[in-house]
Amino acid sequence: MCGIVGYVGPRESQDILLAGLARLEYRGYDSAGIAVIDREGSLGMRKKAGKLARLREALDEAPLGAGTTGIGHTRWATHGGPTDLNAHPHLADDDRLAVIHNGIIENFSALKAELEAEGFSFRSQTDTEVAAVLLGREYRAAGGDLAAAFRAVVSRLEGAFTLLAMHEDHPGLVVGARRNSPLVIGLGEGENFLGSDVAAFVEHTRRALAIGQDQIVSITPEGVSVTDFDGAVVEVEPFEVSWDAAAADKGGWSSFMAKEVSEEPEAVANTVLGRVQDGQIVIPELDGLDGLFQGVSRVIVLACGTAYYAGLVGKYAIEQWARIPVDVELAHEFRYRDPIVGPETLVVSISQSGETMDTLMAVKEAARLGAKTLSICNTQGATIPRESDAIVYTHAGPEVAVASTKAFVAQITALYLLALHVGRVRGALSAEVAGAAIAELEALPEKIRWILENEQERIEQLSRWMSDTRSVLFLGRHVGYPIALEGALKLKELSYIHAEGFAAGELKHGPIALIEPGQPVFVMVPSPRQGATLHAKVISNIEEIRARGARVIAVAEEGDAAVLPFADEVLRVPLAAPLFEPILAVVPLHIFAMGLATAKGLDVDQPRNLAKSVTVE
Ligand code: G6P
Repeated sequence: MCGIVGYVGPRESQDILLAGLARLEYRGYDSAGIAVIDREGSLGMRKKAGKLARLREALDEAPLGAGTTGIGHTRWATHGGPTDLNAHPHLADDDRLAVIHNGIIENFSALKAELEAEGFSFRSQTDTEVAAVLLGREYRAAGGDLAAAFRAVVSRLEGAFTLLAMHEDHPGLVVGARRNSPLVIGLGEGENFLGSDVAAFVEHTRRALAIGQDQIVSITPEGVSVTDFDGAVVEVEPFEVSWDAAAADKGGWSSFMAKEVSEEPEAVANTVLGRVQDGQIVIPELDGLDGLFQGVSRVIVLACGTAYYAGLVGKYAIEQWARIPVDVELAHEFRYRDPIVGPETLVVSISQSGETMDTLMAVKEAARLGAKTLSICNTQGATIPRESDAIVYTHAGPEVAVASTKAFVAQITALYLLALHVGRVRGALSAEVAGAAIAELEALPEKIRWILENEQERIEQLSRWMSDTRSVLFLGRHVGYPIALEGALKLKELSYIHAEGFAAGELKHGPIALIEPGQPVFVMVPSPRQGATLHAKVISNIEEIRARGARVIAVAEEGDAAVLPFADEVLRVPLAAPLFEPILAVVPLHIFAMGLATAKGLDVDQPRNLAKSVTVE
């Protein structure tokens, strides 16, 4: 769960590596390092615990020689704490070989013992250094052929890895290998790049190659060659990256998160764009794949974190419009419980990064059991879509802040599109109902914009008032329930405040015991038009907690006067048909979590202990 970048070409590699790492820092940020082969042909390395800024300082104090070949790494610690020594790169072969790694080498203890018995010694506690030392040994055995050494090493490794290496003997060459961890190649003119994802090099080139599982790549300024782990040449088709570099910059915002929340309207609009034609849903990626939805009697949605909550919202839409029963499961829980899955099951995975290891492994398991697989993903060239039978991309653009915001609303949008499409393909949904839903869908971006323009300031003020709060509860019913869960998760992630989301109907079965005078509770109030009963029941829930002293902050539809006497604060969202309410109700909660963390002086883009792309199980 780290970011890796590699460069060969005529330019100063240090600048390119540091810029690439800055774009990948969301993947891990507890230490960083780079290695460069300078113009005299000697390999230099600097690495530092802490954020990238610490590495920059170290490089200012003790610059590396100028060079045009290099690798860089930003780390999220797994084996060995975040110290200078455990940071990557790791050196071997008399410090002439530098290696960086993303993933976990599960059999590293056995390998380490084997190497120690042969007299090799280690400076760090990492699994990566074991791979580096092993690569050094195999490099000697292969007579100085780095790619051949890689082939020998990967056959000994168990677990997940992307490894990049370069050797003083070979300036202008970086070799990489991947198994279950991401690696993408950027194709330049007289220069080439490697990165954990395209963000690492998109400011230099938008032509990219995604290499498959169990493949080895060698890049030089002149070219790229890819083989499998046995050395057989593999042909890989380039693709065009549609993100531009500016989209991954802060563009004047105080944080990536502030920028990304402000982009929620566009994330929805761009995900719908090009997918409605003549009042019909047309998903070009699913052209010719109608068969995927025939004979399906069950949908299982698999995801982790925020994406899982998007899946919970999707359940309501798929069941209502496509009339297929849906289970939504945390990917890591699915995989290890001998699930009952077969060709009649459509597994829909949701992942912003497309690299979450838990989700990837669950998708692979579902495919192994014969299920059809479709992934909803935001990142081109990522692994999960490549392992799936079909893909529906969300078009939220690059999401850099660790906690997901704009990708969440884009994921829900993609689920609406999918549900409507499947409903029509299977004949479960009338053109009339689909048409009305499409009109609602197309109106969403403007409604989200309304919240940002009219409510953001007030919500930020509320979050400042509440900056000393130690616990916040979130209640919701029906489609409001997943939003209560997402509101709580976002607050935990960003502000380190205890927060819990509950189904409002569950209140009396336990959570109400938590209510004491002054306890803040956010309540997602369903539209009164959603059915008087549901609305009335939530109002009763509010009364129950108010009677026990709770401070109620209601997220309610504009014009819902019934809620006013019962709430201490009302955060307004525009009217929308019931199924579309969640995508609006979540916006105030994102603003609130971000505002509260900012009021506490915390880094909203890189919360402690988290990483954006969790590429280890
Ligand atoms: C991490 C992030 C979350 C994200 C989750 C799933 O835990 O901190 O924000 O929701 O991973 O990520 P994915 O890339 O699969 O959507």
